Amino acid sequence: MSAPKQVATGDRAILPEGAKTIPIFVMGKRYEVPETLTIMKAMEYAGFKFLRGAGCRGGICGACPTVYRKEGDYKLYFGLACQTVVEPNMYLAQIPFYPANRAVYDIEKIEPLADAVHALYPELFRCVACNNCTKACPMKVEVLDYISAIKQGDLARAARLSFDCIQCGLCASRCMGELPQYHIAQLVRRLYGKYIQPRAEHLQKRVTEIESGKYDAMLTELQKMGHSELEKLYKEREREPDMVPLGTWMPKDVSRL
Ligand code: FES
Repeated sequence: MSAPKQVATGDRAILPEGAKTIPIFVMGKRYEVPETLTIMKAMEYAGFKFLRGAGCRGGICGACPTVYRKEGDYKLYFGLACQTVVEPNMYLAQIPFYPANRAVYDIEKIEPLADAVHALYPELFRCVACNNCTKACPMKVEVLDYISAIKQGDLARAARLSFDCIQCGLCASRCMGELPQYHIAQLVRRLYGKYIQPRAEHLQKRVTEIESGKYDAMLTELQKMGHSELEKLYKEREREPDMVPLGTWMPKDVSRL
């Protein structure tokens, strides 16, 4: 095997003293990268520039699904490039955005019933319960369980089970039945949030206050302030002490509440 190529990509090539590097393979080519980097940072260190496939870099947006193999292991592993730390001799490839079927609907016109979800996504019943979807999920969502809950008509359970989904599409990429699990779960959460979940009374009260113009004068006053005045107001604001029991603290000045 040829000696690892030393890459130079601006200051990313300057390692902290004592930093250890490991070999990884990106699309079959070997690179030496610091062992502490995530896949995303390691690929950038190696000279790749992410024009697509990167977003929040914080494990939230689902833009960076990655498949990889480990040395001497035939299995495919799955992860988010921005969250998964490199391992020696990893073989890496990013999947492109996954073009799974997405039903077209108007949320205002759908009843919050399982039948409505079944009608929009009949492929639900092609699920063979292989559980590849769950194994592929980098967020440890119980994908098969929420699909089963939808089939059984329990939308509330499906919404709860899928809450951590970040729409990366890895589940769908592994599905023998060609289910777009993440899109189905998103529809269920929308229905749950709009029609099933009890309304928060305090939120509704605040929305009514905003709509009635209660805060208009205050906002106009704030908009007239300069940067330093706003900064002073912000820094000097009363702040809730740490660890105060829930619902027991109120600021002395309640004029802006
Ligand atoms: S870049 Fe957003 S989840 Fe990785």
